[in-house]
Amino acid sequence: MFRKCITTLVQNAFCSGTSTHIIQEICQRSIHNTAGFVRPPKILITGGLGQLGTECAKLLRTQYGSENVILSDIIKPNQAAVESGPYIFADILDFKGLQKIVVDHRVDWLIHFSALLSAVGEQNVPLAVRVNIEGVHNVIELAKQYKLRIFVPSTIGAFGPDSPRNPTPNVTIQRPRTIYGVSKVHAELIGEYYYHKFGLDFRCLRFPGVISSDPPGGGTTDYAVAIFHEALRTGKYTCYLKPNTRLPMMYIEDCLRALHEFMCAPDDKLKRRVYNVTAMSFTPEELVECLSKYIPNLHVNYKPDNRQLIADSWPQVFDDSEARRDWNWQHKYDLNNLVDFMVKDVQENYINAVNGSDTRATIKI
Ligand SMILES: NC(=O)c1ccc[n+]([C@@H]2O[C@H](COP(=O)([O-])OP(=O)(O)OC[C@H]3O[C@@H](n4cnc5c(N)ncnc54)[C@H](O)[C@@H]3O)[C@@H](O)[C@H]2O)c1
Repeated sequence: MFRKCITTLVQNAFCSGTSTHIIQEICQRSIHNTAGFVRPPKILITGGLGQLGTECAKLLRTQYGSENVILSDIIKPNQAAVESGPYIFADILDFKGLQKIVVDHRVDWLIHFSALLSAVGEQNVPLAVRVNIEGVHNVIELAKQYKLRIFVPSTIGAFGPDSPRNPTPNVTIQRPRTIYGVSKVHAELIGEYYYHKFGLDFRCLRFPGVISSDPPGGGTTDYAVAIFHEALRTGKYTCYLKPNTRLPMMYIEDCLRALHEFMCAPDDKLKRRVYNVTAMSFTPEELVECLSKYIPNLHVNYKPDNRQLIADSWPQVFDDSEARRDWNWQHKYDLNNLVDFMVKDVQENYINAVNGSDTRATIKI
């Protein structure tokens, strides 16, 4: 759906009577936003075939041109990924390999998405340490050497049971109890250190659970994506969190717009290198109530597993007032329009695509 929105925006720009004006605006914005560049920035995205990477590449390619955004990962791309723009193999643990990519492609911005997420990280701590900590050392050092602007996402998981949870401010105690959270606090601190010590243009947003129709990568907030797929296919869902577990969330379009606006924000607006951003907070039962308007016979039961312990230590409501104040962050999607978009997207692009128009749950779109 998001993909379609962007494609439509660009198509409209080229097809409508006011096309020249809109295209000029897009071009000027890209030059203006990258103050200092006389050409669009060349952008490398690591871990680019995950939940955020593919959609991020689409957004940035509409802004800066397909050839200026290089997607990289260690997994085999599907046909669509290969056809949509440059894709290369890049293991985040291979410093020399990354160095060659940055030099050969004259990279200006590095968006570092490679990571093992919270639930997966707990299952393989040594690998999480390597990918999430050693990987960050590699990209930070690379960004310093080649004077790149670097974005590293952090997360609500960078907080722990000792942090205030409702609301969780931008600066507060951070004592996470997952290796994922520990690695993200490390990334925040080393990025800030390189900024103060070497002037590295390090930028970091702490995202809440990100919701999109694409499959998520093994995080604690994944239920808020999986429920749409399961409920629309079968009319049922078994949730691994308790019904009253409140967590901050964000629709992917808001998340990626935040990333892009933050990357383009003039340096003198930024009072910090690390900001909380969010859009809403809800519990599984609140999401179910909203989704029931589309699937009246929806049946959800609750079987909490290990992820409940993780969720219980995370923020319930995220305070992103500093991002709103400093670089004018504003979300667009609340729970109601998130559910509306997700139902239509999953229905059209996943359920109908597999089943024809025949689905088992009764849906009121
Ligand atoms: N999705 C969310 O809800 C969310 C929320 C907060 C923060 N984040 C952060 O955003 C980033 C992207 O998240 P995502 O949901 O797209 O994750 P994801 O798990 O879907 O994707 C991560 C990608 O990293 C790749 N990867 C793993 N090991 C690698 C290696 N050695 N070298 C190169 N790539 C490797 C994987 O193949 C995968 O494609 C992560 O840093 C995550 O912590 C995500």
